[in-house]
Amino acid sequence: MTANHTPTTAPRTPKKVRVTHMRAMRDRGEKITMLTAYDALTASLVDAAGVDVILVGDSIGDNMLGHSTTLPVTVDEMVVAARAVASATTRALVVVDLPFGSYEVSPRQALETSIRIMKSTGAEAVKLEGGVTRAEHIRLITEAGIPVVGHVGFTPQSENLLGGKRIQGRGEGATERLLADVRAVQDAGAVLVVLEMVPGTVAAEVTAAVDIPTIGIGAGAGTDGQVLVWLDMAGMTDWSPSFARRFAEIGRQLTAAAGDYVTAVKSGEFPTAEHTFDA
Ligand code: KIV
Repeated sequence: MTANHTPTTAPRTPKKVRVTHMRAMRDRGEKITMLTAYDALTASLVDAAGVDVILVGDSIGDNMLGHSTTLPVTVDEMVVAARAVASATTRALVVVDLPFGSYEVSPRQALETSIRIMKSTGAEAVKLEGGVTRAEHIRLITEAGIPVVGHVGFTPQSENLLGGKRIQGRGEGATERLLADVRAVQDAGAVLVVLEMVPGTVAAEVTAAVDIPTIGIGAGAGTDGQVLVWLDMAGMTDWSPSFARRFAEIGRQLTAAAGDYVTAVKSGEFPTAEHTFDA
């Protein structure tokens, strides 16, 4: 599927982003860009804009499916979304979240879910939450030839245990614990790691201490790349987290356009002869 629009940025090299490009980007100091997408149209738009990685996040739950958290999202829902995104993406690397309940039981469960997602979607990597406790899961998936993206700091699937959406990596020993998590993820073979909602100084310190590229969300400018939920980036909703920058106000424009449509139909101004088939 191709969106009818003009990209606002020039296409970037490489033609197709692969996991092997991530370290090279980090080594030459080029920031890695990641955005979420949950459907073919949005994927084609952000792909054309030159984003390096598209994440089919389980944030589909609280952003698109009407849930208040990511916890209810199923593998079936992720498969539908990931298939749509992969079908519409030509350049970006497509990464799919393993949803809550689909991998924690054992490394074998994590591998089986990853294989199912890879076989049925056309995606190129999976992402899972957790550090030291998920090292064996990451190792087994990686040994099967599937690239894994780690996710530490604030991990939304554990928000009940963490006491809500709270900044991680603060307080005594917190930096060391975060570093241990990132090192565990790295040593298990992960190709990237997301650092969510950690102080900027801590994220920068961790980034400098490891080889694996770090992707921040609410983690300041010292990481190797950035990720945002596309609805926050595009200003689709009234509220967005304080760490997200709204690069547009598309939600308001959409409401205004729909309002204009309602007015035009009610007043008889639309459709005109121009929108009407001749006999
Ligand atoms: O599901 C998601 O969108 C994520 C990002 C917030 C990193 O995990």
